[in-house]
Amino acid sequence: MNRVGILLRVNGQSYEAFVEPRKLLSDVLREDLGLTGTHVGCEHGVCGACTVLVNGHPMRSCLMFAVQLEGAEITTIEAIAADGKYSALQQAFHEEHGLQCGFCTPGIILTFEAYLKQNPSPTEEQIRDVLSGNLCRCTGYQNIVKAIMKAAGTGAQSDGEVKK
Ligand code: FES
Ligand code: FES
Repeated sequence: MNRVGILLRVNGQSYEAFVEPRKLLSDVLREDLGLTGTHVGCEHGVCGACTVLVNGHPMRSCLMFAVQLEGAEITTIEAIAADGKYSALQQAFHEEHGLQCGFCTPGIILTFEAYLKQNPSPTEEQIRDVLSGNLCRCTGYQNIVKAIMKAAGTGAQSDGEVKK
């Protein structure tokens, strides 16, 4: 299939790529731009591992063709600690052991970086509701929820107990 030239804005930089029109954004990010922090699990919009921000909104990069994203501002996990310092959310994941294999983590971090900007003091129920779009195979979600609550300043006030 013929390739087309596209210009993408990712993490504040412009990238030119020549890709097949049917190539997914997730594959272009990983294979053409070398941004492998975006993970690919299910490839059909279910697991949330491939989540990136498009104009500040969490989107599944496995459900979009890269050619659709010209003119958009895309943010991947690589930009979140771009200055060499964890974001508050990343730091909380570290402190609360919110990851094991880390496969789901970039998608969750990006989902909640955006969510906490709009909803800085969510309840545990709200966090779990938003988190339901991101599947984790390892952690049982307990520490992920604790980490998000901590980053939001709503967690770990008492005994750190988070209900199942
Ligand atoms: S890889 Fe995109 S939602 Fe699972
Ligand atoms: S930490 Fe392994 S899938 Fe979530």
